[in-house]
Amino acid sequence: MSEGKTRLAIFASGTGSNAEAILQYEHIHPNCGYQTVLVVSNKQTAGVVQVAERYGVVCRILDEKEFPDNANYVESLIQLLQTEQVEFIALAGYLKKIPDILVRQYEKRMVNIHPSLLPKFGGAGMYGMKVHEAVVQAREHISGCTIHWVSEEYDAGAVIAQFSIPLSSGEDGVSLSAKIRKLEHEKYPELLSTLTTNPLARDKHKAP
Ligand code: GRF
Repeated sequence: MSEGKTRLAIFASGTGSNAEAILQYEHIHPNCGYQTVLVVSNKQTAGVVQVAERYGVVCRILDEKEFPDNANYVESLIQLLQTEQVEFIALAGYLKKIPDILVRQYEKRMVNIHPSLLPKFGGAGMYGMKVHEAVVQAREHISGCTIHWVSEEYDAGAVIAQFSIPLSSGEDGVSLSAKIRKLEHEKYPELLSTLTTNPLARDKHKAP
C-alpha cells in the first residue's frame, strides 16, 4: 500500500465480480490511483463478502432492517466511512438507495456502473438480468455500460463514460450479461484509477 492513494470504498450486494476486478487492478498496477480500504454490503451471504476476504479488505455488512430506525442506519454508515477515512466510493451492484446526505457529502466522489447505455434501461427496479432481457426484447442493436456520478435518483447522475458493444444474432439475456460483465471489468477499474489520480479528470466530468 503506498501513500497518497485515494481511499476507496466499494459498495456491492451481489457476486462482486466488479469489486474483484477493481481489487485485482490495484494489485496489478502499482500506479493505480486508488487503494480499496473498505467493502460495504447489505447482505452477509453476498459473494462480494468472500471477495473482500480473499483480498484482505475490511468488509462491513449494514442491513437497514437491523437498525432501530433510518436515522440510526444512516448515522452508522457515515460513521463507518469516517472511521475508514473513505475519500471516494464506487457502487458496484449495490441494490440499496444511497442516503441523500451521503450523496451530497460525496458529490463528484461517488460513482456507479450500470449495465446499459443510460438513460435507456435504467431507473428504479432496473438491475441485473432485468436490464439485459429488456434490451434483447426491445431488439436493440447495441448495449453496453455506463459509469456515472451518483445523484439522489437511481441511475440519473451525470454520465462520465459509456462503452458499447453490438448484440449478436440470437443474443439472449444470459449471453449479453456475460459480454457486458467482461466490458465492465475492463473499463470500470481503469476509469476509477483515472478519476482518483487526477482531480482534473473529475472536473471534466462535472455533475450538472
Ligand atoms: C453489474 O452488472 C453492474 O453494472 C450492476 O450490477 C452488476 C454487479 O455485478 N450495477 P457483480 O456483482 O459485480 O458481478
